[in-house]
Amino acid sequence: MYILAFANNAIYTAHMILRQITLIALCCLTGLAVLAQNTERKISIIPEPVDINRTGGHFTLPAKITIRSAESPEVMNTASLLKSRLEAATGASVETSNTDDTYTIRLQLNADEDAVLGKEGYRLQVSPKTIIIKANQPAGLYYGAQSLLQLFPHEIESARPVKTEKWQIPCVNIMDYPRFAWRGLMFDVSRHFFTKEEVKKFIDNMVRYKYNMLHLHLTDDEGWRIQIKSLPKLTEVGAWRVNKTGQFGTFSPPTPTEPRDYGGFYTQDDIKELIKYAADRFVNIMPEIDVPGHSLAAVVSYPELSCTPGVEKYSVRAGEPIMDWSQGAPPIAMLDNTLCPANEKVYDFLDKVITEVAALFPFEYIHMGGDEAPHNYWEKNPAILELMKREGLKTMEEVQGYFTRRVETIVQSKGKKFIGWDEILSGSPSQSTAVMSWRGVDGGIKAANSGHEVVMSPLTYAYLDYMQGDVAIEPKIYATLRLNKSYKFDPAEGITNVNLVKGGQANLWTENVYNMRHAEYMVWPRGMAIAESVWSPPAKKDWTSFYPKVEEHFKRLDFAETKYAPSIYDPIFQASAGPQNTLMVQLSTEIPGLDIHYTFDNSFPDNFYPKYTSPLIVPKDANTLKVITYRDGKPIGRIITVQISDLKGRIKKK
Ligand code: ACM
Repeated sequence: MYILAFANNAIYTAHMILRQITLIALCCLTGLAVLAQNTERKISIIPEPVDINRTGGHFTLPAKITIRSAESPEVMNTASLLKSRLEAATGASVETSNTDDTYTIRLQLNADEDAVLGKEGYRLQVSPKTIIIKANQPAGLYYGAQSLLQLFPHEIESARPVKTEKWQIPCVNIMDYPRFAWRGLMFDVSRHFFTKEEVKKFIDNMVRYKYNMLHLHLTDDEGWRIQIKSLPKLTEVGAWRVNKTGQFGTFSPPTPTEPRDYGGFYTQDDIKELIKYAADRFVNIMPEIDVPGHSLAAVVSYPELSCTPGVEKYSVRAGEPIMDWSQGAPPIAMLDNTLCPANEKVYDFLDKVITEVAALFPFEYIHMGGDEAPHNYWEKNPAILELMKREGLKTMEEVQGYFTRRVETIVQSKGKKFIGWDEILSGSPSQSTAVMSWRGVDGGIKAANSGHEVVMSPLTYAYLDYMQGDVAIEPKIYATLRLNKSYKFDPAEGITNVNLVKGGQANLWTENVYNMRHAEYMVWPRGMAIAESVWSPPAKKDWTSFYPKVEEHFKRLDFAETKYAPSIYDPIFQASAGPQNTLMVQLSTEIPGLDIHYTFDNSFPDNFYPKYTSPLIVPKDANTLKVITYRDGKPIGRIITVQISDLKGRIKKK
């Protein structure tokens, strides 16, 4: 008995020891796996570099961090970027030095040109003990540093020290350079005004993704935003309007007694400060003065510039309807928002504006708009009819062409190049004029075919004011542009002479963007898709590897406190007529791996509700469809309520 008991005990003890060993081993393995996961974290650089080669092992930030860089102020910009970001997020102090032989990070300008890199390319080498970025020009070092920051854990984006297991990154060799020299974002600061500090935050966000062009849309019907010293009324009067909130475009017209206290403008000192801030980050700022249409703020300030002075009592637009698009383009103006091409005072006015703008902005181009100019007020104007006779102009389009060429001459007389929206093509501008294609890609193709340089910013891929998901959840705009469509943007699409494609840009119009948080929501993540379209080689673009990177960047933006749209997690609804007069709804998702749960009973669905597997026939008396997406058992999308009447309406529209 005792022997048996002893034996049993021994077996039990041995069993327990084995179990402990197994547990310890398991713990170790799990620990190693976690560590391995950290070091083997997928590289998620956006835009995708030309070449990434993982060399094995990892680099961990040491306690003492030294950045060695050349003495030039332009290289110091990159050293300062790295110093400020590393210090902010890690809490460590970072030394910068021009001489130190023992460095953590080295920024090195090539003594001999590395031909493949061009002006903006870089090589980034991460070894176990040191990081070296090499480039031909300071801009390349800056982009190398942006890629380096994206190798660090998400927490590196924080403006405050964060605890993380290790500031560790994989050892890699990266070689990278951009596909296009013009990588732009347009920010409409006219429809809603954004302060100088907000524009700086916009720049901070764009440079993370290697954008180098900020196109500021400075004037429109809703406000004139740049001080012109010789024309003070532009900002005393034209920068201010009645404040209205809601669905822009549907508001009641401002009454004479409502206060005109919404708005603002940049003084010329503000503009200089922004230009310097942008230049320190290798960003050019291109000003846009949008004429002859979209000029109500100018006309309100100086009514003699229109074809209808004194006929109407003008007011800077506060979001009331002013255009009728029912007849197509050009629109019919319900009040005259144009400069009068037959009025010499207009060219004197533009000469003054362009003189000051040209003196302020170092960038070689001035954008003079040219889009969506209504012609209906011109048609009735005796001075226009006389101009047509004198100049042999047969149509209103030709009248606008005459205006374009006059403005082009003024721009060129100030030593600048002219660029405008694709409508300017009908004016047969001179060869040095560049065209920004926005009404799809056709304008750009036509312009390039006739020898003009082009910047592609087609609404089909690059309009950031469009909704990113379904109208049932997104702030309502008349069109939708999902991330996967933006990602298909190729600035060279359809263009034979690719050398004439300067690059591409995405445009954020702000009629319905009332604040900076929403501006961020509209730009990200589509700004990532456009960034990859203008930087990365087409062969490196791949949606199935792009969207997981975007998800990684969502975590980065959380730390950076930058808002973004989570619309890729929400379903796409397709309504159609079902059998026997029923309504059928098909649901799908932009990215794979999501479960859609739904209900027609007006309660809030979760993962205990039916999972969508095939097209749904809407119950006869249902009035809403509510959906939510889950991934791995956790909610990931937003609850969306779609009215059945709305779904029925979508079929009728087809
Ligand atoms: C534009 O979107 N009207 C250029």
